[in-house]
Amino acid sequence: MKDIYEIAVVHGDGIGPEVCAAAVEVVKAAFGPVNPLRFSEYPAGAEHFLKTGQSFPEPTFQACRAADAILHGAGGLPGVVHPDGTEAGLDFTLRLRFELDLYANIRPIRLFEGVPSPLSGVKAGDIDYIILRENSEGLYAARGSGALLRGEVAVDTLVQTRPGIERIVRKAFELARKSSGAPLDGVRRVTCCDKANVLRSYAFFRSVFDEVAKGYPDIATEHALVDAMAMHLVLKPGHFNVIVSENMFGDILSDLAAATVGGMGMAPSAEIGETNGFFQAAHGSAPDIAGKGIANPYGTILSAALMLDWLGHKHGDEKLSRAADRIRRVTKDCLAGGFLSADLKGSASTHKITHAVCNGLATVPG
Ligand code: IPM
Ligand code: MN
Repeated sequence: MKDIYEIAVVHGDGIGPEVCAAAVEVVKAAFGPVNPLRFSEYPAGAEHFLKTGQSFPEPTFQACRAADAILHGAGGLPGVVHPDGTEAGLDFTLRLRFELDLYANIRPIRLFEGVPSPLSGVKAGDIDYIILRENSEGLYAARGSGALLRGEVAVDTLVQTRPGIERIVRKAFELARKSSGAPLDGVRRVTCCDKANVLRSYAFFRSVFDEVAKGYPDIATEHALVDAMAMHLVLKPGHFNVIVSENMFGDILSDLAAATVGGMGMAPSAEIGETNGFFQAAHGSAPDIAGKGIANPYGTILSAALMLDWLGHKHGDEKLSRAADRIRRVTKDCLAGGFLSADLKGSASTHKITHAVCNGLATVPG
């Protein structure tokens, strides 16, 4: 337990500053006058790159590494690119993942009451699973290291290592153990999502999954090919509990899954390693709606709740875990109470939603 937890805050680009400010406000409201979190802001992202030539300044990296947790809005702007064509504004997120070894990207997918889903016949609680995305290797391992040969041939290498697979699969089983199972049948289940029928690296992922699974006989297991998975997440989302997958597949499925529970604005994430934790919504910087005050802050607010969960667990500090629970409870009430942003077919501004959540926190007992 600590007296003060240092939180490195990076607002980033587009709607990043708006949703990040909302989450900080909510966390402050959750604690009131005795706030154990100290927020310090640092620059990074595409805007900063345009201004200074640096997308991720070294002092920002040092501060993030030293902080107890990192909170991010969103990064990247289309067209702000490195000479190889990749986006400079993504350096912050991607370098943190690799350099702080944030191997587990935990993405809860949950349909809240009051939030419209494009799927027919689903109601709140029918969709409630976790996509556990491997976050330190896979196809993303090639970031910045692929090869372009004479303008004719481009290569990025997909990397899967035994220790890398083992640790993410173990994490999947631990998450399933702590969960209450799949909504449809209450079974605690880990689904290994891969493309083992085609590529050796995914067949390896699956075989390591099967080995690790032997250590968790209390948890049901199954395999699903990623292409079929895209269909299952639409047709029978209630079947899933924890889905574990390689980095790139996890990225793609995250957006599909988010769409089923209201869109990218409803998708929080926690990117954690043995030491560091990094929290941001799974969405991008949405420059088309930036500055209009209409961005959906729920994803970042729920990510901040995941940050408090993680800090509370890591430091054995129950007041942080309690604050996380209260934020989730109030968020749920606000959504059910009709505080919906434009992406959720409502008309509430970012400010109005944030205010409603903060108000709720002021009245919900700790
Ligand atoms: C995500 C995002 C990131 C990714 C970007 C911002 C680097 O899409 O977290 O899902 O591609 O992993
Ligand atoms: Mn993504």
